[in-house]
Amino acid sequence: METSTAKPAVEQKQKGTKEAAKGHPSGDKRFRVLDMTMKRNQYRPDALIEVLHKAQEAFGFLEEDVLIYIARGLKLPLSRVYGVATFYHLFSLKPGGAHTCVVCLGTACYVKGSGEVLSALEKHAGISQGETTPDGQLSVMTARCIGACGIAPAVVFDGTVAGKVTPEEAIAKVGAWLNSPQEATVSG
Ligand code: FES
Repeated sequence: METSTAKPAVEQKQKGTKEAAKGHPSGDKRFRVLDMTMKRNQYRPDALIEVLHKAQEAFGFLEEDVLIYIARGLKLPLSRVYGVATFYHLFSLKPGGAHTCVVCLGTACYVKGSGEVLSALEKHAGISQGETTPDGQLSVMTARCIGACGIAPAVVFDGTVAGKVTPEEAIAKVGAWLNSPQEATVSG
C-alpha cells in the first residue's frame, strides 16, 4: 500500500502557472479539482452548487475544511455555504464515525478493483457505503476520482490517500480501528 500525504511532486513541476501554485496548504490534490471548477466559473458565487458537487465527488463527503475552502474561493459567507450544503439531500456532511474510509469508485480505480475493496469493507464492517458502524467507529464512503488515478485503486483512510489498495489491506486497516476503539472514557 502506498500512501501520499506530503506535497505531491507534480505540484513542483507546475510552478510555472500562478494558479497551479495555489491550492490548499495540505497539498491535497483533491483541492485542485475545486480550484479548477471555481476558476472555470470565474469564482462566481452562483457556481456554489456545482462546486459543492465536485467537492462531494472528490472527497466523498463535505467536511468543514472543504466548506471553508469553497467559501473563501467564492467569497461567500461560510454560513451560506453551510446552508446550501445542508439544505440539499444530495450533499452529505462529514459522517459521524470516529474514522472514515473513502473508497474511490472513479473509472481508473474501479477497473483496478475498487469495487471489490468496497464490498470487502462493507462486508467486514457490516454496513453499506454512506453508513457508520453502530459503535460509531467507522464510516465508509465513496468518491468519484480523488485525483490519484496513477496509484489506483485509491482509498482515503482518515484523510490519508493510500494507493494500490487490496481488499485485504483495506480490511486490515479498518480492522485495527474496529478492534481498538478510541480511548473509551474510563470513569472512575
Ligand atoms: S479514479 Fe480513483 S483516483 Fe481517479
